[in-house]
Amino acid sequence: MSDMERGMTALNIPTVGISAQRFNDWASVVRPQIEVALAQGLDAYATHSVAQNSPLVAAMRHGVMNGGKRVRALAVLAAAHLVGGSQQVAMQVAVALEYIHAYSLIHDDLPCMDDDDLRRGQPTVHIQYGQAQALLAGDALQTLAFDVLASERLTQMGLTAAQQLQLIRTLAHASGVVGMAGGQAIDCHHVGQPLSADIMQIMHSLKTGALLHASVMMGAMCGTQDARDATYLSRYADDLGLLFQVVDDILDASQDTATLGKTAGKDADANKPTYVQAMGIEGARGFAQKLYTSALAHLGNMSNAEQQGTQHLADLASYCHERIY
Ligand code: IPE
Ligand code: IPE
Ligand code: MG
Ligand code: MG
Ligand code: MG
Repeated sequence: MSDMERGMTALNIPTVGISAQRFNDWASVVRPQIEVALAQGLDAYATHSVAQNSPLVAAMRHGVMNGGKRVRALAVLAAAHLVGGSQQVAMQVAVALEYIHAYSLIHDDLPCMDDDDLRRGQPTVHIQYGQAQALLAGDALQTLAFDVLASERLTQMGLTAAQQLQLIRTLAHASGVVGMAGGQAIDCHHVGQPLSADIMQIMHSLKTGALLHASVMMGAMCGTQDARDATYLSRYADDLGLLFQVVDDILDASQDTATLGKTAGKDADANKPTYVQAMGIEGARGFAQKLYTSALAHLGNMSNAEQQGTQHLADLASYCHERIY
């Protein structure tokens, strides 16, 4: 029996619709808690005189608190649940991930990148506050994310300095040259050029996959896990991250602006290298299905797959995949 077959058997794959529905039920309870934690983190400097009536702070709030599915935060919490980690610690890790993600979106929307004026159904940060404040809001959210992970609050919650350093290093790698920023650089550098399958996969895995991978692995750092399970979890997270961007490419080409909350059809208009452009919409759907199946199989190979520890992570993959149906 192959690794993939063994994994699928152990996981006892639920009916897909039920799995995504169960995810929505869980997320509807947890999302309000994420919103509170995100707002509290932004308040950290609120009493500082520089923050009073600051356009920078207003732009940061707009970029973070304007909706969003909070998938990265939910991935952190789901992985922490798998390893029996502290949900209190995981919430702070989730906040750090969402700040980095919000910064990446603010910069992604700038005229020098994707030049978008609509995000989460509202004007993008640079439309509302101007390009300079948008650029700075992204910068400040990035440093705020690391501030959260380095904070004494996490030490008081029981994390050692070594654990905090590991979280910081993981997020730094996932955000930088070998992560999100590196992937965005490939994306911007190849507008209008067809990409080989290899480069396309690297680009998507970096620009979007890296932060989702970090979300899962940093969630797992909130508890303990053996090396074998960590390997399968990492493979699951790789598949989930790539799946997420393939799905994003498909939605750009198949949904309307009102549903997306961002301008539909933008990738084709801007001549972006995407999976839809490379494989057609049905080809991209087939690839998404393959990644989804593979992600679940990796979970099924984990030692606690049968005790439902993996359920939130399996449901998260179903939710991400089902957005295209
Ligand atoms: C959009 O991410 C950008 C990508 C990395 C594909 P999301 O689809 O998670 O955006 P929000 O946070 O829900 O708005
Ligand atoms: C964005 O990819 C990836 C990052 C922000 C790192 P896209 O450019 O496809 O995201 P959307 O479609 O604007 O949300
Ligand atoms: Mg982009
Ligand atoms: Mg974009
Ligand atoms: Mg997109």
